[in-house]
Amino acid sequence: MSRTLIQAKNLRKKYQMSKTNIVQALDGVDIEVQEGDFSAIVGPSGCGKSTLLHILGLLDKLDEGEYNLDGLDTTKIREKDANQIRAKKIGFIFQGFNLIPSLTALENIMQAGKYGGLNARQRKERAEELLDVMGLQERKKHKPNELSGGQQQRVAIARALVNKPAIILADEPTGELDSATSKDIIDLLKKLNQENNQTFLMVTHNMEVAEMCKKIIRLKDGRNA
Ligand SMILES: Nc1ncnc2c1ncn2[C@@H]1O[C@H](COP(=O)(O)OP(=O)(O)OP(=O)(O)O)[C@@H](O)[C@H]1O
Ligand SMILES: [Mg+2]
Repeated sequence: MSRTLIQAKNLRKKYQMSKTNIVQALDGVDIEVQEGDFSAIVGPSGCGKSTLLHILGLLDKLDEGEYNLDGLDTTKIREKDANQIRAKKIGFIFQGFNLIPSLTALENIMQAGKYGGLNARQRKERAEELLDVMGLQERKKHKPNELSGGQQQRVAIARALVNKPAIILADEPTGELDSATSKDIIDLLKKLNQENNQTFLMVTHNMEVAEMCKKIIRLKDGRNA
């Protein structure tokens, strides 16, 4: 039986804008992710996709519901332990790449290794290994603004992988890329999935991207659709 990485039930999250204006961003979502999954979350703008990803990534807290991450009841995690658990279990990829502008590609990847508890030598080794995988050896001394969008996203993917996370969460990872580059990036993620059994859960509103995934999870108005 494969390992269950995410098991969440009846996730609810509201944003209180004012006394009378409450947005129920998640209204009872269920989601399950098994090791080796390559899944897309799709749904209309505002349906709660990013909110769901933030909660699953322990970047935000749920109001109600159950969320088990790799055997850990996350509702019982203390605030001060959340950062470390997140660093070890979860990698993030964002639409806008979110690289540190003053650091080179190599340094951006190495930096993330600090949070996972790797020492300097291990960080360098791991980053070099990932630069090979990403085909970025010749660009490792470049800063983000000296890289193309596809190259920046590959650096961001390497950064997400540096601590060998159980799961990678991606919010519109191809949202700022042209369609050929988008396909290259999804092909790369798929290769990591097939060759290393790396688990991915990505939000996309690009149906071509969603159709390249093994599973599609649909949301509407903060619920499973
Ligand atoms: N920090 C916040 N404060 C208040 N309301 C928020 C906040 N974040 C999200 N919302 C609201 O919660 C709902 C869900 O937002 P969310 O960002 O999860 O949608 P989404 O599905 O990711 O949309 P998109 O496809 O446009 O990125 C929306 O109505 C949004 O306006
Ligand atoms: Mg979003």
